[in-house]
Amino acid sequence: MNMNREKVQIFDTTLRDGEQVPGCKLDTKQKLVIAERLDKMGVDIIEAGFPVSSPGDFLSVSEICKIVENATVCGLTRAVKNDIDVAAAALKHAKKPRIHTGIGTSESHILHKLNTTPEDIIARAKYAVAHAKSYVEDVEFYAEDAGRTDNAFLAKVCEEVIKSGATVLNIPDTTGYCLPEEYGAKIKYLKENVKGIENVILSCHCHNDLGMATANSIAGAINGARQIECTINGIGERAGNTALEEVVMIFKQHPYLNLDTNINTRELNEMSRLVSESMGMIVQPNKAIVGANAFAHSSGIHQDGVIKNRATYEIMDPLDVGVNESSIILTARSGRAALAYRAKKVGYELTKTQLDIVYIEFLKFADIKKEVVDADIHQIIEASKIEGELIRS
Ligand code: KIV
Ligand code: ZN
Repeated sequence: MNMNREKVQIFDTTLRDGEQVPGCKLDTKQKLVIAERLDKMGVDIIEAGFPVSSPGDFLSVSEICKIVENATVCGLTRAVKNDIDVAAAALKHAKKPRIHTGIGTSESHILHKLNTTPEDIIARAKYAVAHAKSYVEDVEFYAEDAGRTDNAFLAKVCEEVIKSGATVLNIPDTTGYCLPEEYGAKIKYLKENVKGIENVILSCHCHNDLGMATANSIAGAINGARQIECTINGIGERAGNTALEEVVMIFKQHPYLNLDTNINTRELNEMSRLVSESMGMIVQPNKAIVGANAFAHSSGIHQDGVIKNRATYEIMDPLDVGVNESSIILTARSGRAALAYRAKKVGYELTKTQLDIVYIEFLKFADIKKEVVDADIHQIIEASKIEGELIRS
């Protein structure tokens, strides 16, 4: 690995944006288990919750601060004095506390949600950052709906909050509307037009309404953002957030981007399972990196290739994400190579002639059953009229 690759900070918001998913609420004990594991996995910032939202969330943030060893612990607030006071109290025990405050900046938010003026937005943003700064050194500002905010106004807001002491500027595509090119250009515009931008970190927070959250975050990083906000399994409001496992593996598998993270990628699969089981939210089987089928091959053509050389149909090593091995799934679309491979795994060395006979039986069986499992293989082989000695390995 090239040690000179620039680091992109991974800001995990599974316990905040992720936990906003209906039915996915976690209790404090479950949150502590997840936070501890995120910390161990190498996440740089853990957004532990929105402390003013409920006494339970306050308690969770406060308890998480006591057990996290390495990561910064962050609490969300609106640009409201009491939110910030409460977040500061919840973060009291954090080794590295961060307050994440902000306000809507798009025309839609200013007119329809906040019913105010652009000037008032800037004044509230400045006040919130300055007030947060009176408690902690590390203050992140989010410009809600930045994805649909006019770039010149966004730049003005950013410049003003930097003057008030913001250390990180979060540019959320709150509604998941931007195209990757557009989002990347927005980050580039801010890099080139905001005074003082060189002193802060730009952060991507992208939602997945059009399935572009990960692509947008990567476009942001290519254009100079050095923090990505994401969740395990991509959970979050509506269609979810950028998936942590996706951005981390994209940087790993595309070294020419010259970007890297601190994440121990071998933890990704277990982390995914922990979050899925704790929240009772299944991971879609075809989910990139952590889905059950991410390293499963079922068509005969692909299986033949993978058995000869894994790289023919896999662009990453399953071991790198904590999956022990690729799987060869037997279905009616599988070929002889896959059947011989799986038969060997369960203890039979079939000769070519034996394989031809067993394959005919196998296809009859597979046309009825969706997937042929190990127990079925024994049954199929025993039922086949095999000539010669059956060698058991
Ligand atoms: O999507 C969003 O804009 C957010 C902010 C609160 C950061 O989640
Ligand atoms: Zn969000």
